[in-house]
Amino acid sequence: MKSKTVFYCTECGNEFPKWSGQCAACGAWNTIVEEPSKAEDKRSAPGSRNARGKKPVTLREVDITEELRFDTGLGELDRVLGGGAVEGSLVLVGGAPGIGKSTLLLQICQHMGEHQKILYVTGEESERQLKLRAQRLGVDSPNLLILSETNLSDILDAVEDVSPDILIADSIQTLYSPESQSAPGSVTQVKECTMALMRLAKGEHVTVFVIGHVNKEGAIAGPKVLEHMVDCVLYFEGDEAASYRILRAAKNRFGSTNEIGVFEMAERGLREVPNPSEMLLSGRPVNTPGTCVTCVMEGSRPVLAELQALLAVTNYNVPRRTSNGLDYNRAMLLLAVLDKRGGLRTNGLDAYLNVIGGLYINEPAADLAAVLAIASSARDIPIPDDLVALGEVGLTGELRAVAQLEQRLSEIARHGFKKAIIPRQRRFKLTPPAGLRLFEAATVREAMALVLDA
Ligand code: TYD
Ligand code: MG
Repeated sequence: MKSKTVFYCTECGNEFPKWSGQCAACGAWNTIVEEPSKAEDKRSAPGSRNARGKKPVTLREVDITEELRFDTGLGELDRVLGGGAVEGSLVLVGGAPGIGKSTLLLQICQHMGEHQKILYVTGEESERQLKLRAQRLGVDSPNLLILSETNLSDILDAVEDVSPDILIADSIQTLYSPESQSAPGSVTQVKECTMALMRLAKGEHVTVFVIGHVNKEGAIAGPKVLEHMVDCVLYFEGDEAASYRILRAAKNRFGSTNEIGVFEMAERGLREVPNPSEMLLSGRPVNTPGTCVTCVMEGSRPVLAELQALLAVTNYNVPRRTSNGLDYNRAMLLLAVLDKRGGLRTNGLDAYLNVIGGLYINEPAADLAAVLAIASSARDIPIPDDLVALGEVGLTGELRAVAQLEQRLSEIARHGFKKAIIPRQRRFKLTPPAGLRLFEAATVREAMALVLDA
C-alpha cells in the first residue's frame, strides 16, 4: 500500500485532506504542511486496544490529596506555575528562539538539584556548550546530568538508567522518535515525542520540562500544537531588543493562568524583577502628548502600565488602525465611543495604540487610560506625568467601576503618583492613600475635560 500523506496546520495541529493557503480551523495563513500519514500504525498508537489497560475506579476511591509541589528557586516562575512545580507534571515552555528558554531552565537546575536528580537533554547544543553556559549561570550541581541527544528512544533508555526526578527536554523540535518517518520538528514528531514524555511524567512520576520554539514562518510545529496535551503551558515573551522578559501561563491544570513573572536578562542569566511597575514605567516620556498610565491586575498583583497612542492625518482612503498589547476590537470600540460620545473626531486620522513593555492588557479597567491617551495625542495636549487613569468605558461613554480599586490605588500611590482619575463612586466615599488625590468622573467627556482642559 502506498503511504498516504495528510496536511497539518503547524499553528493549531488540525488535519486536512488537502492543502490550502489558509487553515480552515484557526485561520492562520501559510501554515499548512504535508506529512506522511500515520494511518497504517494506528493500531500501535497510544490509547489503542493493546495498550496497557486500566480499570475504572469509583469516584470515592480517587485520591485527592494535594499535589506535591517543589520550589524551582525562582519565585517569579513558581508564581506562574501556581506556587511551585507539581511533581509528575509536564510543563511546556514556549517562546521565540533566543528569548531565554534554555537559560531559564538551566538556571533553576542549581536550586532543584539540591534535592532532586535532574537530566537535562539538549538536542541543540553540545555538552561543552552547555557546560560553558552553566558556568556563566553559576550552575554546578552534582545532581545535574546532561545528555546531548535527539533520538527519543535513546533518551528514554537514559531515563531508565539514571531514573531522574526531573527531565528537561531542550527542545521538542529537535527530538525525533525513530518509529515515525516524519522529520524532526514536524507536527507528527513533536506530538509523538510529547506524548511519550507525557507517559513518562504520569507513569514514572518524573517532572518534565519541555522547551518549544515558537516561530512565525510556521516551518516547524510550534507549542500551540501541543497545548491540549500537556499540563501547563508557559510562554516566555519580550522585546528582543530590550532586556525584559515576561513569563505567562497560557494553560495550567494546577493553578490560575492570570499570574505573570517578570525577568531581566542580565550578564549572568535571568534576574527576577519583583517590582514590574518600575520596569514598565522606566523611560516614560514626560510632558509629551499621547501617553497615559493605568493600573491593571496581573493575577493577584497590581501592575502599573503605560499606554501610548498616536493619531496622525492619514494618507489612505481608509485610515490605518493598529493596536499592540490591547485587543484590537476593544481599541476600535473605544475610538468609536470617543468619536460619538467624547466629541473627538477621529475619521481621517490613523490611530496607533501601544502598551509599553510587552504587556498584554485584557482588562476593561485600562479603557479610560487608552481613551485619554488617544484624546491627548489627537489634541496634542500632554496628560500630567503624575496622573493615573482607571475606569471601564461603556458604549454610551459612561465610566464604570473597576474591581479591586483600593489595591490599585495603593500601588499607584506607592509609585509616587499624585492624582488618580476614577469612575464616580456611588456607593461609598473612598479614602485615598496618603499623597494621592482622587478625581471622579462620570463620563469620558468629563474625564477629558478634567485632564486635558485643566
Ligand atoms: P537562550 O536561553 O539560549 O534562548 P532560547 O533557549 O530561548 O533560544 O538565550 C539566548 C540569549 O540570552 C542570547 O542572546 C544570550 C543571552 N544571554 C544573556 O544575556 N545572559 C546570559 O547569562 C545567558 C546565558 C544568555
Ligand atoms: Mg535554547
